[in-house]
Amino acid sequence: MTIFNSICPLSAVFDNGRRETAYRGGMSGTASLILWDCVPYFAAKNKIMDAILLTYGLEWLNLLGRWLHLITGIAWIGASFYFVWLDNSIRPPKAGSELERQGVSGELWAIHGGGFYNPQKYLLAPKELPETLHWFKWEAYATWLSGFAMLIIVYYANAQAMLIDPAVANLTSAQAIGVGLGALVIGWTVYDLLCRTKLGQTEGLFGIIIYLLIVLAAYVLTHLLSGRAAYLHVGAMMGTMMVGNVLMVIIPGQRKMVAAMSAGQTPDPIYGKRGKQRSVHNNYFTLPVLFIMISNHYGMTYNHPYNWLVLAAIMAAGVSIRHFFNLRHRERVEWRFVVLGVAILLGVAIALAPKPVVRTAAANVDFAQVQAIVAQRCVTCHAANPAQPGFATAPAGVMLDKPELIRLHAARVYQQVVQLKAMPIGNLTQITEQERAVIGAWFEGGAK
Ligand code: HEC
Repeated sequence: MTIFNSICPLSAVFDNGRRETAYRGGMSGTASLILWDCVPYFAAKNKIMDAILLTYGLEWLNLLGRWLHLITGIAWIGASFYFVWLDNSIRPPKAGSELERQGVSGELWAIHGGGFYNPQKYLLAPKELPETLHWFKWEAYATWLSGFAMLIIVYYANAQAMLIDPAVANLTSAQAIGVGLGALVIGWTVYDLLCRTKLGQTEGLFGIIIYLLIVLAAYVLTHLLSGRAAYLHVGAMMGTMMVGNVLMVIIPGQRKMVAAMSAGQTPDPIYGKRGKQRSVHNNYFTLPVLFIMISNHYGMTYNHPYNWLVLAAIMAAGVSIRHFFNLRHRERVEWRFVVLGVAILLGVAIALAPKPVVRTAAANVDFAQVQAIVAQRCVTCHAANPAQPGFATAPAGVMLDKPELIRLHAARVYQQVVQLKAMPIGNLTQITEQERAVIGAWFEGGAK
């Protein structure tokens, strides 16, 4: 019976605990916890409404998860940008002044929101521990947790469509999820070990090594996962390193410093030094990671045959531009770093530009042919109510279920199907090369 082929994890809930039967009957291979497997289960049980509600519910989880991730990310990066700026902008107090005697190593004055502020930084720590000390950590943890939830909701729950591209590597859902999670764990482990070596103390050289390792990870991931998922996992890996730095190094170091002070001892400066090293890395990671988090909107980057190289270049541009701002806070305005960053981005944009389309008047493709291909290969997803499990609405808002809509989107269809070969996503509907050629000839012949 087909319903027992289901590995729907929710069947336990809907079947009063008879999930074991579902697992035993006919399940072969990997039994991954994939929610979309519930759709055929519900459909087979004539619970179509439940299947639709499940998809719809996950769409809301997606929305709320993304919203939360954005908010916590802003809070984290915002606070961290502010402290980097503060650290770079403070100036030592006047020699012999009261502040200097108190052990203040730098201070500044700022005006914001109608008030004057006068932050002061202590070289090591104030003589006495203040009553209330503000810590900054939950922004980081909440960003990671909400980001991880998004990985599950967007990629792992719908691995066939979102994580795997058979043209890249024919993995099973469980294998692809393993690659994704493995990247996070291995990434952090290697990075953390390297930071603890002597090499970790050399700022510039070590930065280059970390960069090359991340590019290597991008190379490997783009050869195992779909381009979009590979990009996102490079970002998630770097985000994990950033949060790992906060959770495993910066905060524990600060705890030890505070504990030493409470015990009346002078804190060991090594904790401050270690924290600083990680904080510098986090600072240079921010722009690359933020690009990756929005990259899923820009198929021209992650769908390119050399997508890993594109990512490497855009990350380098981000680092260069960040470097400019870090120097500028210290009153060193070095425009060459902005020029370099912009030049790289411009170079990438030119390199990725679509090839000019050769209009072949001779090509005589009947529109009915194109419509038939689109109906078979695209409309399962690109309709107001997609039949494809896991899609609640037409992806990217593109509907192709009417002739006028196909013509309206002709250029985008051509780009996605012929030039980028990005659609059908993960080639789920198994379009053939010949069908791509038909769409190509139709567009090149004027898309009539
Ligand atoms: C399995 C579902 C699925 C199938 C089948 C599918 N698509 Fe898509 N399509 C998507 C998703 C998901 C997106 C959004 C991708 C994104 O946001 O990166 C998308 C986006 C698009 C876009 C907009 C891309 C852009 O950024 O401009 C176009 C155009 C498109 N698809 C065309 C097609 C065509 C043509 C076919 C058939 C040959 C097709 N799709 C088949 C899921 C699908």
